[in-house]
Amino acid sequence: MIRDEEILNRVDKEKLPRHVAIIMDGNGRWASYRGLLRSAGHSAGMKTLKKILTVAVNLNLEALTVYAFSTENWKRPHAEVDFLLKLFSEYLEKEKLEMHEKNVRLRFLGRVEEFSAGIQNQIREATQLMKNNTGVKFNIAANYGGQDEILRAAQKLAQDVATGKISPAQITASTFEDALDTCGLPPVDLLIRTSGDIRISNFLLWQSAYAELFFTNTQWPEFSPEEFVDALIDFSHRERKFGGVKS
Ligand code: FPP
Repeated sequence: MIRDEEILNRVDKEKLPRHVAIIMDGNGRWASYRGLLRSAGHSAGMKTLKKILTVAVNLNLEALTVYAFSTENWKRPHAEVDFLLKLFSEYLEKEKLEMHEKNVRLRFLGRVEEFSAGIQNQIREATQLMKNNTGVKFNIAANYGGQDEILRAAQKLAQDVATGKISPAQITASTFEDALDTCGLPPVDLLIRTSGDIRISNFLLWQSAYAELFFTNTQWPEFSPEEFVDALIDFSHRERKFGGVKS
């Protein structure tokens, strides 16, 4: 416990990002390097997620969004997809009460309606349980793609124009943001990607327009609270200009 506090005390609470997004990459490689099945990497990744969410709760971050399953991940072998879906179900079952006790507000981003009825029920139950919570906004992107999200928002607004609900001029950055899955969340301040690849992979494309990026070679199962805090400290030293000049 004291060690946890020591880790957290390294961060300047005044300079925390409001919204941190994480591409939790490297579960498969972590497992392969150890001669384990990829599924073992995902299970280990689930434990890491729990630890990182705890840090977010203890620091009272405003929002944490993680990339759990992309619209492209269906291309993986059936067994791996099935395992991941089982893991989400297990995670919701095991963690929902603890998340609720920690005042976490859970939300899912993406086409959740394409998951099985069972998982959809679990998602509904868990999000309903936490809907009035006021702590960390914890968002799990599942069956999510940034381009897909933007297209769905555009289609929704086009529909509103077609039915005369709004005029084309009423499509502004603000109304567009309201049509995204992330409606009501602040823009991403810090985007972290583990496991060495230096790309965004269709994650929160609109929301990360001015995000600070943090890439690490550490594979997700090994990503520790210490390194998460390192990323937050690194962020606190970045000079943000949002297209303007240094103030
Ligand atoms: C990317 O690593 C990771 C994923 C596609 C799945 C992320 C899932 C978890 C962290 C499990 C827990 C999540 C929840 C919400 C319960 P990869 O498999 O692409 O790794 P590789 O690039 O090394 O192959």
